Amino acid sequence: MSSSAELLTGLRPERVPDEDWRAFEERFHAEFPRLQALFLRVYGDSGEVREQLRRLAADAAASWADRDPELKRRDALRVEDPEWFQSNRMLGGVCYADRYAGNLAGLRDRIPYFRELGMTYLHVMPLFLAPEENSDGGYAVSSYREVNPALGSMDDLRALAADLREAGISLVVDFIFNHTSNEHEWARRALAGDPEHEGYYWIFPDRELPDAYEQTVREIFPEDHPGSFVQLPDGRWIWATFHTFQWDLNYRNPAVFRAMAREMLFLANVGIDILRMDAVAFIWKELGTPCESLPEAHLLLQAFNAVCRIAAPSMLFKSEAIVHPDEVIQYISPQECQLSYNPLQMALLWSTLATRDVGLLQQALDRRHALPAGTAWVNYVRSHDDIGWTFADEDAAELGINGYDHRRFLNAFYVNRFPGSFARGVPFQDNPRTGDCRISGATASLAGLEAGDPGAVDRIVLMHSVVLSTGGIPLLYLGDEVGQLNDYGYVFEPGHADDSRWVGRPRYPAEAYADRGDPSTPAGRIFQRLRRLIEVRSSTPEFWDGALVPFHSNNPQVLGYQRPGIGAEQSTVVVLANFGDRREHVNEVTLSGLPSEAVELVSGKAVTLSAGIDLPPHGFVWLRVVRAG
Ligand code: GLC
Ligand code: GLC
Repeated sequence: MSSSAELLTGLRPERVPDEDWRAFEERFHAEFPRLQALFLRVYGDSGEVREQLRRLAADAAASWADRDPELKRRDALRVEDPEWFQSNRMLGGVCYADRYAGNLAGLRDRIPYFRELGMTYLHVMPLFLAPEENSDGGYAVSSYREVNPALGSMDDLRALAADLREAGISLVVDFIFNHTSNEHEWARRALAGDPEHEGYYWIFPDRELPDAYEQTVREIFPEDHPGSFVQLPDGRWIWATFHTFQWDLNYRNPAVFRAMAREMLFLANVGIDILRMDAVAFIWKELGTPCESLPEAHLLLQAFNAVCRIAAPSMLFKSEAIVHPDEVIQYISPQECQLSYNPLQMALLWSTLATRDVGLLQQALDRRHALPAGTAWVNYVRSHDDIGWTFADEDAAELGINGYDHRRFLNAFYVNRFPGSFARGVPFQDNPRTGDCRISGATASLAGLEAGDPGAVDRIVLMHSVVLSTGGIPLLYLGDEVGQLNDYGYVFEPGHADDSRWVGRPRYPAEAYADRGDPSTPAGRIFQRLRRLIEVRSSTPEFWDGALVPFHSNNPQVLGYQRPGIGAEQSTVVVLANFGDRREHVNEVTLSGLPSEAVELVSGKAVTLSAGIDLPPHGFVWLRVVRAG
């Protein structure tokens, strides 16, 4: 029937040189069968499905023909070196173009700073055309082919991508493919009753099916609207997992997959290196299930991945699955998402800061850190979103911790309703019905700087030290490296007042940046120390990739792990990190398996381990030990 050779017949655009086309053909023959198999598994076999596949092949060929030679060179380099992102020199930063730099052109002006910091990866928050007032920070996309005019134009985005490439920085943008805004052309047409586009969304004539789905589906933004559906002006109901104006796409329709694959290839050719795959868990719905992380969601991601391998082979996916750790891991593989946020590490860093007990975090590093070859975590202290307590209740139970109670404690602690708390967070999506709540805030405010707590700077550095030493790509929320605080002004901003996540998305903290060289300021102290850690990390080969070997400190306040050297290297970096408020000791018996001489990499000093080691409050060490060969 449709062998990959037949499908390619007649697809070669004239302008593609021989050699270039042969390379495409080779990839096509290698990957298309996988794409086809996935597609048929999800959609079954029919004339319509075969037709969509045929068109997908044509889209891929046309996209390759349009791809800039500069991007094709990058493709070749990265295909040669598929583990490039495992490097200990990788460092990510994330920001909103408008809040951080005014617009896309302003971001280009910040490239010298990104280099100063050592960045190799920049995630620019959603920058596409979106509804004017409230667009969920751009996560409601009205067109993937137009840049939000307040930020610039597609040409500005291309220029930014090129400048970043020149500076050795990969550009990451969101691929918001679970939903569109209600102003997207597809949405407008659907609303106007065009049957083709009605088929792009989940529209129901009455409450019968919505009620049935809601039996098993969790509420994501209950403060915005209860349940997962909103009513259209004509009385019908449409699926909207997030805000009322974010309408879920219906991936049961193969035309939707193909349409989004085209948008994805368009972005690839703009020069995007990594797509942050937004809200991956939600893309497939099935009555009687939670409609999250269903098997088809994975098959579809793998199908998108196969499309990239064919027509934009250097582009990678980062999964945004903020779900149970058993589910997070399922998105991560070279055939699906090569990268993934590590929400468990993020949440447990905060949990540990509050409890001063490293048990849960230690357990997570011991048993939930390992990843398949060819993939990596993106480790972070916090993102633009809320902190949700996504640890596994069963893991907690093993340590005698009740998950429900612990989350209640953490929520109280981080919104400063717990005696002695140093944190100044704001509740997000407080759901009195389920008792669920998450936390918004900037790192420094959550870690005590806003409250004037004397341990704040050390805590901020400690949190980042873990993110910088557990492998994968460390991702900084830009501005946090100079200790930016919460922005309470969000309540006066149109469209933001009801979404407390904006408290943690301050504008470019110019004063703090100006202070970054001045060690008498918190900004200077945080920045200088983080710079040092980044520098040490980038010259420490043991920090290559994410391999981690457990190391238990035998002190409940002290987190431990080892980063083994690569190849024949006998060296290991042993990390010990004190989450307690007091000086802590790791005794000589615990360290007796290590050589007695070590170098502490951050200070550059030799240390003797034979009498154990002392760690100041919130202090940590990166100890290189060399075992006799
Ligand atoms: C992701 C984004 C979040 C957004 C949601 C809906 O979770 O990180 O900011 O609200 O998707 O697109
Ligand atoms: C994400 C997560 C949810 C998070 C929200 C963004 O996709 O599933 O936990 O809070 O969307 O804020």
